[in-house]
Amino acid sequence: RIAYVNGAYVPLAGAAVGIEDRGFQFADGVYEGIAVRKGRLIDLEPHLQRLWRSMGELDMDAPMAVGPMRLVLSEVVRQNRIADGFLYVQVTRGEARRDHAFPAFSRPSLIVTCRRFDYDAVFTRAATGVKAKSVPDIRWGRCDIKSISLLPNVLAKQAARSEGAFEAVLIDTDGNVTEGSSTNVWMVDGTNTLITRATSDNILPGITRAVLADLAAEHQVRVDTRPFSLEEAYQARELFLTSTTSGVMPIVALDGRTIASGRPGPLAGRLLAAYKTHMD
Ligand code: PDD
Repeated sequence: RIAYVNGAYVPLAGAAVGIEDRGFQFADGVYEGIAVRKGRLIDLEPHLQRLWRSMGELDMDAPMAVGPMRLVLSEVVRQNRIADGFLYVQVTRGEARRDHAFPAFSRPSLIVTCRRFDYDAVFTRAATGVKAKSVPDIRWGRCDIKSISLLPNVLAKQAARSEGAFEAVLIDTDGNVTEGSSTNVWMVDGTNTLITRATSDNILPGITRAVLADLAAEHQVRVDTRPFSLEEAYQARELFLTSTTSGVMPIVALDGRTIASGRPGPLAGRLLAAYKTHMD
């Protein structure tokens, strides 16, 4: 496998950045995860826009202009001969002597990797759905920034996985669902309205979330962007997750409670079909 590291395409094994990189010492960096389907980068432009926004919010310089960045990303896909995969892009503030404050001068560090990823296996899994577990959301106040500081997300995902659940559903101090540890969360209420939390400082504005909102509008599905509680989620007609690597993934049990009939619902099914078409 080939990685791009600060100007060079190098074998992944042995690829390295300095140990004083601020990403390593302070998690002072941002990232994107982009789906590769049939060799194409899916929703590349919104991912690049979100990456630039994340860098801007942290007063971080871009490592290169957007044009060259597009070329680097497609070159990593090409050199790894990936048809279906997951592309990872990370920008950190770069290497500097350890000091919390921003260094006066540092060159941002850019790494790009790509690995195979089986979306068809994900779509197969969506036919039966997954279990989820609720976990308190203990993250910071700027979850809209796609920062590499992911320890609360890591702990939440692990708490779910250790109980055999696929995803952790994060719950804020008001008892409302914020999002998943690496996904956005949606529910369908008794009137077949899709409900998902509005984008704010509290959640990541998912690219899949935005695509799904468009697809819902195209399919004349009502969408209400508002918070919903864990109690509402338990009672939902349908509950599902969206993300780059999960597509549209039905949740059939939450905290051991069966959601509706315990099978993926029709609306999630229709939206998944539309999302697959979007990817192809
Ligand atoms: N996760 N919320 C969080 C906290 C996320 O980390 C992600 C993405 C999402 C969904 O965003 P998108 O639809 O743009 O993938 C929501 C990526 C896949 C990851 O960390 O690997």
